[in-house]
Formats: sequence, C-alpha cells, structure tokens
Amino acid sequence: MASTFQPVKIPGPSQLPDGIRLRILTAPGELERLAVGEGLGAYCRYRAGETLRILGRVLRAPEGRVVAALAEDTLVGYAALFQPSPNERWGQRPTAGLLELGALEVNRAWRRRGLARTLLQATFGGGEFDGAIVLAPQYATDWDLEASGLSRREYRDLIFRLFRRHGFADFVTDEPLVAADPRNFLLVRVGEKAPPGLYQAFRSLLTETAPLVKPSDATRQQEYFGAGLTAIRQINQFPAEEREAIYRRLIPPRVVELLRLDPATGCDPQGNRLVTYVTPPDQGFVRIEIRRDPRDEDGVFLLKLTQPTEEFVEIAFIMVNDPQAERFNVDRDPAGNPVGILAGVRNLEEELRAMRAGLAPGQVRRGLRMFRQLLPLVESFATELGKQQISVEALFYHHAILYERYGFGYLTGRDRLEEIHREFQPGGSLSRRLDGSTPFRMPEAAGTVRGRSWAIHDGILEESWRVPRLYKIVGQAMTMPTFPNPIY
Ligand SMILES: CC(C)(COP(=O)(O)OP(=O)(O)OC[C@H]1O[C@@H](n2cnc3c(N)ncnc32)[C@H](O)[C@@H]1OP(=O)(O)O)[C@@H](O)C(=O)NCCC(=O)NCCS
Repeated sequence: MASTFQPVKIPGPSQLPDGIRLRILTAPGELERLAVGEGLGAYCRYRAGETLRILGRVLRAPEGRVVAALAEDTLVGYAALFQPSPNERWGQRPTAGLLELGALEVNRAWRRRGLARTLLQATFGGGEFDGAIVLAPQYATDWDLEASGLSRREYRDLIFRLFRRHGFADFVTDEPLVAADPRNFLLVRVGEKAPPGLYQAFRSLLTETAPLVKPSDATRQQEYFGAGLTAIRQINQFPAEEREAIYRRLIPPRVVELLRLDPATGCDPQGNRLVTYVTPPDQGFVRIEIRRDPRDEDGVFLLKLTQPTEEFVEIAFIMVNDPQAERFNVDRDPAGNPVGILAGVRNLEEELRAMRAGLAPGQVRRGLRMFRQLLPLVESFATELGKQQISVEALFYHHAILYERYGFGYLTGRDRLEEIHREFQPGGSLSRRLDGSTPFRMPEAAGTVRGRSWAIHDGILEESWRVPRLYKIVGQAMTMPTFPNPIY
C-alpha cells in the first residue's frame, strides 16, 4: 500500500554525528546491502542477522518505513514506523493516521552521541506526522539495562525525556500487551493537526471501559467559543490553530524578540519550529516549551499551567533560561549523567560555581528576568477562563519570596516562612547554623534571599523543604511579606 505520509526531511550533515548519514527506507530490498554490527539487536536479544529480518517485516507492513542511521553501509541506528499489527488492540481495525513507532535503537557502540534524538528529530521534526497519532508502546524487556548501567527507573526517565521532547506523553491503557507487565507503558504523540475523529478512535482503544471523551463531543466545535470556555482541558480539545492562538498569548514578548519568533507559527526566521505546545486533549494542563534550536537540550522558556481545582489556574512549572549564559550542571551528577534538579542528588562543585556566579538553587543558567512580564499574561489567561485566582508551589525558598514580591499570599506554609525569617535573625537557630561548615553556610547568607535559599538547599533546616503553596487574586497584590525589604 502506498504511504499517505510525505517522506521525512533529513537533517543536513552538520547536524549529525561525524560519519553518520540518515536515510529513509521504504522497501525491503533497500536492506540488502546493509551490514549490521554486533551491538544492534535490542528487539531480538542481539542475535546476529535478526534485526534485518525484523526491519524487513516492518517494511512489508502497511505504512512501514525505517529512518536509518548509517556509517558507510553499516546500520548503526534506526526508528521503525508502521501501522499497528493485528496482534495489538490498536491494529485490529486498521485506522488511517494511527501509526506505531515500534522500535528505536542505537548500536551499543554508537550510543550517547545524540543519535536517538537525531532519529526522532528527523522523524517528527518536519511536521508530516502532525496529522497522525503515533503510539510508542514501551516494553521493558526491550530495554538494554545491562549496557546502559542504568536502573529501571533511570532508564524509564531517559525514555520519557527522549520522547517528550518530540511531543509524546504517557497514556493509561489496559491493552493486554502493554498491561502484561507493570513496567511497560504507552507513549503517544497526538499530532497537532490530528482530526477529532482520529483522536476519538484512538481514545476508544485505550481502555475497554467507557472513553472519557463522549462521542457527542464530536459536535463540540460550537460549544468552544464564548462564555462556555472554563477549562484548559476544553481548550486542549480545540483544533490546533485555535488552541495555539489562545496559548501563544502566554509567550512573553521578550522571548519573541530574543528568538525572533513569529508567534503565529512558532517558527524562527529560518522556519525552524521552536515552540512546542503539549496539550493532551483529555488532560487539564498545557505545557509550552520554547527552545532556541529545536535540538537544544535546555529550553529558553518552559511553562506548565494546570487547573488543580475549579477556582485556580496553577503555575505548575516555570523556567526561563538565558540561552547565551553559561550552563551550570547542577542537574547532573559529577559524571555528567542527568539526575534532575529535585532528585536529591547534588553536584556540589557545580552548585558552588553556580552560587558564586549569582544563581539561585535549581537554576542551570541565568534567567531572563521576565517573570514580571509573564505574570500579567497568566492573569489574563485566567480571567479568560473565568478564574479569579492563580496558585503556585514554591519549590525553593527564593521562589516563595519572589512570589511574595509579586503580590502572592500563602495558601499553606506562611507560618513556616515567618519562622524561617525569624530564625535567620542574629541569635536565631538558623543564623547560628551558618557556621561556615560548608560554603553554603557562610554567616552572610542570612541577609539575602539567595543566600538563605542555598543554605536551605544545603539542609540547614534539618528537615526537607515543605513546599508552600501561594496564590494571587487576579488584578490585586497582597503585601504581607515574610521577608520584608529583601535583598535578593
Ligand atoms: C535508548 C537508546 C535508543 C538511546 O540511544 P542514544 O543514541 O544513546 O541516545 P542519545 O545519545 O540520543 O541520548 C538521548 C538521551 O538519553 C540519555 N542517555 C542515553 N544513554 C544514557 C545512559 N546510559 N545513561 C544516562 N543517560 C543516557 C542522554 O544523555 C540523552 O539525554 P538528554 O537528551 O537529556 O541529554 C539506546 O540506548 C538503545 O538503543 N537502547 C536499546 C533499545 C531501547 O531501549 N529503545 C528505547 C525503547 S523504544
């Protein structure tokens, strides 16, 4: 069957690791001249020759294609797409536009050079699957824990990170093959232009119990506009253009200027799409990610808004990085492996460098000082949804103090914050613990927001940070700071 999808755009040589070129294979005959090294075979217990046979089957399947990374004529990595097989629930009734990314693999000898990222970028970066829904079931038996040296948890996180960057999100399913092992999970990329009917079809395959989105939602188009709009989840069900027209108003003008973004398309002047909107149609959150280059690891701007209750729009996550500023690997262990900022694994050397450069805990780069610009945008978004309040969780002490300064008050945690301020005064218990025993516990830390935050991050409270929740009423500012006239 002829493919209904356009061939993917292949990145130019400058974007590929040395000696590697990418090719799209669409016919089994194209595999004939290829060699396969020993380190390839995650899907066949590394049995020689078996990978090519599997890829042969992929290419004979409807919509089958392989994005192949080649070193000369040796296959060193690939991503394989096809229409789901009838053995899986998704394939029992072939549905146009529903595809499976059934395999992604890189030869052991070629790993950790960005090849998996490049393969996914080549497959999804060009936009031709934006009208499709692509399933990527993750079966733990395919993972190469042995060669990676990672724990299951770390491996799972790696896969999430890798796929999330290309618009995949995890969905709950009781599909028997996925549900057979609790370590398995299902990642799905709902293309920005996937038609509502396709989404309905996919949604009804996820679980055998009733789908969350009722078929009557097919006529929901008319309900979308006007006073009926009250939830992020509703916006997420809009067609892509309308959804983005709403969400792009949350992008601060400073980011638009800095990256020379066309807000309407989310592209830079070279036509690279820098903005990603993650808007799962059955969930009440939106995540906006903007990168200077789609392949960059760090975003310039990340914003996640949720709706924890009827009354609030919550800023669940916000990060702004000056892409030109130096990076501090406070989110990596000393060997350079990513651990995440909140994982509790510290990289003391990098933290010290970051602190000395004037950063606060949790920052990998200097920010762009644009919260003041962002807040009114979030406020008008909340107003449009008919909400009067914004909430936020302060993951670090300095966040709480910054939010206070922007007019937030406390839903929870105020007493503790007041106590912290008190105990940092001369003679207080926290002030006494600033005894120079670590570089993060120097006496002068008591006087500044950042200094206190580093000391708290260093464990000076002798208990873990109890995340306070703050709120702000749209259009109003509260002025009851727990740290009056703070020096940042
Ligand atoms: C998973 C796999 C495809 C990754 O390929 P790769 O080319 O090494 O990946 P990349 O170099 O593009 O790295 C992608 C991310 O994974 C991280 N990563 C890869 N291997 C890692 C390791 N051993 N330890 C820590 N991080 C690792 C990279 O740091 C990178 O993270 P970042 O994007 O946050 O910087 C490869 O290990 C593999 O083929 N495994 C066997 C098959 C499999 O598990 N497939 C995935 C399920 S479909």
